[in-house]
Amino acid sequence: MSSSQREFKGDQFPKPLSTIQKLEQTPEWKAIQKFSNFTPPEPINKEVQWDKSKIIVSKTDPYGVIEYANDVFIAVSGYAEFELMGMPHNIIRHPDMPKVLFKVLWDNLKQGNVVHPVVKNLAKSGRYYWVIADFEIKKNDKGEIINYYSRRRSVAQEVVDKVEVLYEKLLQIEHTSGVGASEKYLMGYLEDIGKSYNQFIEDLVLQYTPEPPAPKVATSAPKVALSTPMQPEEDHKRGFFARFFGKK
Ligand SMILES: Cc1cc2nc3c(=O)[nH]c(=O)nc-3n(C[C@H](O)[C@H](O)[C@H](O)COP(=O)(O)O)c2cc1C
Repeated sequence: MSSSQREFKGDQFPKPLSTIQKLEQTPEWKAIQKFSNFTPPEPINKEVQWDKSKIIVSKTDPYGVIEYANDVFIAVSGYAEFELMGMPHNIIRHPDMPKVLFKVLWDNLKQGNVVHPVVKNLAKSGRYYWVIADFEIKKNDKGEIINYYSRRRSVAQEVVDKVEVLYEKLLQIEHTSGVGASEKYLMGYLEDIGKSYNQFIEDLVLQYTPEPPAPKVATSAPKVALSTPMQPEEDHKRGFFARFFGKK
């Protein structure tokens, strides 16, 4: 008898895992279990005091399960690293946030599009903090999404005041008529002002951010025409948001 026959004889042979056992080993299953033992804090109407020049960073898997959070995230949210890792990102979801905003976020992320939502977050203390978010979508060689990165910054009070009015309406509609109705209202609102959600937010941020960086002005015309020339306003916004979120 060879050594390999001796090793895997009879019931000592390793049994294949059942579907349930495989599922139980996924980060998403573990995240659901961790989240089901989690009691969200009671919100209090007080803002977290934090250094608003800093950038809050997190990285998640394709399902929004937290894999990394920087020190600023830990300080502002009030959660320890071990409490955040492996948790769904909605650990910091504030009940004042309308569901439709996250629907818009996920619909865009899954399609590989970046949005810049303004979000009210809930810290462990029950206090809130408002941020504007930027996303980066990482894909593998097959083009499948493997991670999301998010950078968040504080946002001017004037921007918060404007979006808060809209969010309150959306939340009210959701409570009475559901997310479908609040999505229709949001689309109607954006059609009415003639902007996409991103344009609406970007215009607000540009309007109320003190001393926004000057637009880049081309000193000479490019020698080769670009197939899809970028509008100067679009170019300005792109540069602004890259600098705003501290991208290299
Ligand atoms: C990279 C990344 C960052 C996110 N950041 C936040 C955040 O700061 N606050 C938040 O409430 N949701 C954030 N989300 C969305 C959450 O995954 C979740 O959709 C949201 O909290 C709403 O929770 P719900 O789907 O249980 O209603 C983020 C998602 C990803 C992928």
